[in-house]
Amino acid sequence: MPAPDLVTAELTLTGRITTASNATFLGSIGDAAVVYKPIRGEKPLWDFPDGNLAHREVAAYLVSEALGWSIVPRTWLREGPFGDGMVQLWQETDPEQDAVDLMPADEVPETGWKHVLDGQDEEGRIVALVHEDTAALRRMAVLDVIANNADRKGDHVLEMADGHRYGVDHGLTFHSDHKLRTVLWGWVGEKLSGEELDGVGRVSEGLKGELGRNLAELLTAEEISSLAARCAALRAVGRFPGPRGEMPAVPWPLF
Ligand SMILES: Nc1ncnc2c1ncn2[C@@H]1O[C@H](COP(=O)(O)OP(=O)(O)OP(=O)(O)O)[C@@H](O)[C@H]1O
Ligand SMILES: [Mg+2]
Repeated sequence: MPAPDLVTAELTLTGRITTASNATFLGSIGDAAVVYKPIRGEKPLWDFPDGNLAHREVAAYLVSEALGWSIVPRTWLREGPFGDGMVQLWQETDPEQDAVDLMPADEVPETGWKHVLDGQDEEGRIVALVHEDTAALRRMAVLDVIANNADRKGDHVLEMADGHRYGVDHGLTFHSDHKLRTVLWGWVGEKLSGEELDGVGRVSEGLKGELGRNLAELLTAEEISSLAARCAALRAVGRFPGPRGEMPAVPWPLF
């Protein structure tokens, strides 16, 4: 649980992210800079009819905590100037780093990068969608598989100066139908490391106890059993899954 002052101290709005499709505000609680997304500002979505995005974002934070890798910045529910919503600690990113990028297909380095797909730019040149091959980003891909994230765009990866990677915008997660849409496809078929499997094991275990009880406040029972099934399947197969199903495997736009 967040420290009590983050729940009760006044949340002051300082700005608004105007590119966002839902109402997304910047604010502060004392010294802490936060993102605030009021439930009232959510646009209804035909493909996510149950619950609300704010609850899914908090659920993603709880699962990230159970994994133990601090992928999702601290996220909680509280009241703000536009009513109940989700609040998340703001993270100052390093503008010099790009974990997910577009580059000419013939310039993708041999090592350090994973090549996801090729497209054509306006001039007909072949452009590659790539992402870094780092442990931090792999862990985010593991979170996305078990959370069934339908919206892992390039801009939902935050590059921290020390190499840490935070993931944000987890409103489209935990559906009981397969909906994995991500730009992080670089490890398809690769074996999960022992550490990665241990993290998934912690989620499986947690679902039988406190994590399960906390998620019951946020997700439907069907969504929670689907989460448990995805964890079990990933541990049994032990490898990063590939795209499947009818829906596009990457979100649009990619960033
Ligand atoms: N906790 C955070 N710390 C730093 N930057 C953040 C944080 N949360 C979001 N951002 C930045 O703000 C952008 C918009 O936030 P987010 O994607 O969560 O909002 P949204 O309302 O879902 O927007 P959209 O519909 O455009 O995806 C993100 O792409 C990211 O660059
Ligand atoms: Mg977004």
